[in-house]
Amino acid sequence: MNTEFDELVSLSEKDEVRLHTGAQIFAKTTPEPDHTSDSPVRTTIKSMSSTSIWQRLKNRFFTGAEPETQEPVKDCFWKVDIHSHLLPGVDDGVSSWEETLACLQQFSEWGISKVITTPHVSRDWFPNKYQQLLEGQEQLQALVREHNLPLTIEVAAEYLLDDFFLDLLNSREVLTFGAEKYILVETAWSSAPLHLSDLIFRIQSAGYTPILAHPERYKYYKNFEAELSHHRDAGCLLQLNAMSLSGKYGEQARRQGKILLQKGWVDFIGSDLHRPGDLPRFEKIFSLPEFKELAKQPLRNSKLL
Ligand SMILES: [Fe+2]
Repeated sequence: MNTEFDELVSLSEKDEVRLHTGAQIFAKTTPEPDHTSDSPVRTTIKSMSSTSIWQRLKNRFFTGAEPETQEPVKDCFWKVDIHSHLLPGVDDGVSSWEETLACLQQFSEWGISKVITTPHVSRDWFPNKYQQLLEGQEQLQALVREHNLPLTIEVAAEYLLDDFFLDLLNSREVLTFGAEKYILVETAWSSAPLHLSDLIFRIQSAGYTPILAHPERYKYYKNFEAELSHHRDAGCLLQLNAMSLSGKYGEQARRQGKILLQKGWVDFIGSDLHRPGDLPRFEKIFSLPEFKELAKQPLRNSKLL
């Protein structure tokens, strides 16, 4: 009875296929010219790249494994992105509507159906006003309509926890999202606010639900797990930057991001996209082992649809 291997060997005399039974090694040279009708096996051979034929033959005959998938599935299964900088001219994000459009189109192709973009708000660098950002929201929504993009868009903010923020909180001129009135906050990179726990409590007391943006990126922890565990226990949610996993922010952020995954502490995933140039780095996450770990997190993104 012919085996698949016999059929493969008999395809052409020009194929030089040697089986070394002791070492179980195949070697194949001289691809067969493509001038005959396609049998299933011949089609398989034609689909093999010359560089991977050894691995594919070994998989097929010795492990029974299917050929490796070349392209990862690029699916943002969480559907809602809650962190980006896609309003031109208000912060260090996109610099034109064309850049905004390029980012939104790519997001849509990757399965995002709702974007909550979050311009920086801080006293010293980006003192954006509540009303100004709401006007930006209208412009973004008009852009989406004009280009028939299959997504919705809202504007919230990424608030730096400085004195300016406390004034905004007291005036209640803060941009939130979701029924829980989520409010995205960040701290300085190298030093946490003196009383971060107190600030979290004040946000909650004002009726909002705090989300700490990209905790894995901060460099000031004496004990990363213990400090974040304390904030989580106090009701502060955590948002991981997807691109931390692909190394955009360095090794410490990548390592701390993996800890968040291991602990199951990722309440939200966010892109923190600033420009189209970030998209290739974002795309890398689809082929990372950590991408599968995201599906095991208590993500709340899709509840915002
Ligand atoms: Fe951001």
